[in-house]
Amino acid sequence: DWTMDSIIDDSIEAIRAEVGDDRVILGLSGGVDSSVVAALCARAIGKQLTCVFVNHGFLRKGEPEEVEEVFTKQFDVDFIHVHAEERYLELLRGVTDPEQKRRIIGTQFWKEFFAVAEDLAQDGRPVKYLAQGTIYPDIIESGARKTGGKASTIKSHHNLIPFPEGVHFDLIEPLDHFFKDEVRALGTALGLPDYIVHRQPFPGPGLAIRIIGDVDAEKLSILKNADAIVREELDTYNERLFAETGERNSEHSVWQYFAVLPDIKSVGVMGDERTYARPVILRAVESSDAMTADWARLPYDVLARISGRIVAEVPGVNRVVYDITSKPPATIEWE
Ligand code: XMP
Repeated sequence: DWTMDSIIDDSIEAIRAEVGDDRVILGLSGGVDSSVVAALCARAIGKQLTCVFVNHGFLRKGEPEEVEEVFTKQFDVDFIHVHAEERYLELLRGVTDPEQKRRIIGTQFWKEFFAVAEDLAQDGRPVKYLAQGTIYPDIIESGARKTGGKASTIKSHHNLIPFPEGVHFDLIEPLDHFFKDEVRALGTALGLPDYIVHRQPFPGPGLAIRIIGDVDAEKLSILKNADAIVREELDTYNERLFAETGERNSEHSVWQYFAVLPDIKSVGVMGDERTYARPVILRAVESSDAMTADWARLPYDVLARISGRIVAEVPGVNRVVYDITSKPPATIEWE
């Protein structure tokens, strides 16, 4: 529509005026905000933009492929996929403390990112700007994050970015006066697919903090497969609710849903065999801002399908339990 088009045009003009002929680098996380900035910058400055996707290996099943698809096929930018999965697993080996996991993952992100920036500068055209998906609420909240300090520092506050000695970027933050809903509308108008624009909140450290205790490749694979089933079934359930209520994002939809893998095993039986395998925890909440959340009263048939599918389709899992705790006193995530 007209308003959205003129907002996009204004943003593009502003980016061009600021950037001129210089190069811009952007860290793509797969989330809404960085994707919308990338799409805007793509329209404004095309190949002057380099998108760096640091793949830590903790995104959900299929997501890295989706990010790559969108920013190689749909937008004409310079896209770099950094395969850091092995390095992250190595760094996290034996680490069980949630906050330490977050610190390691956050610190490594910038190491990977600056390594790429340094590489890019080798061709004699240094990168002058760093584009970021900072949105208006990030600015209001920075310092005292709503999530109790758990949210990643990456996108929040300028001086929290740990620039190495001698490294300097000017920042461009084209979304810094938009609210989340407006950012989503921008994303849609720019042609980003729904699975990016309407992505549910997802923590920066990703599945690494949904594996309780230490992380390894086997647990990661189990969690990805179980989580994919949870998402498939609850996406379908949400569509059903949308169809009934006639509106998207109605307060009756499930807001955030995922699987968690605890570090215990339990006894089960399959055929004539005793099993000793992992449980998967299903978490599904209703919320509007993540400050408080209510566990979702999912219908039994939906719960039964999820449980049946996970134990049948994911090797190494013999039990599914449902977290029936609200926030407070629990949090949405388990770590
Ligand atoms: P909690 O678990 O504190 O989560 O109830 C509230 C919201 O924040 C998300 N979350 C995070 N987001 N980095 C993020 O970017 C993090 O480390 C992090 N931890 C929690 C969580 O998914 C929920 O939407």
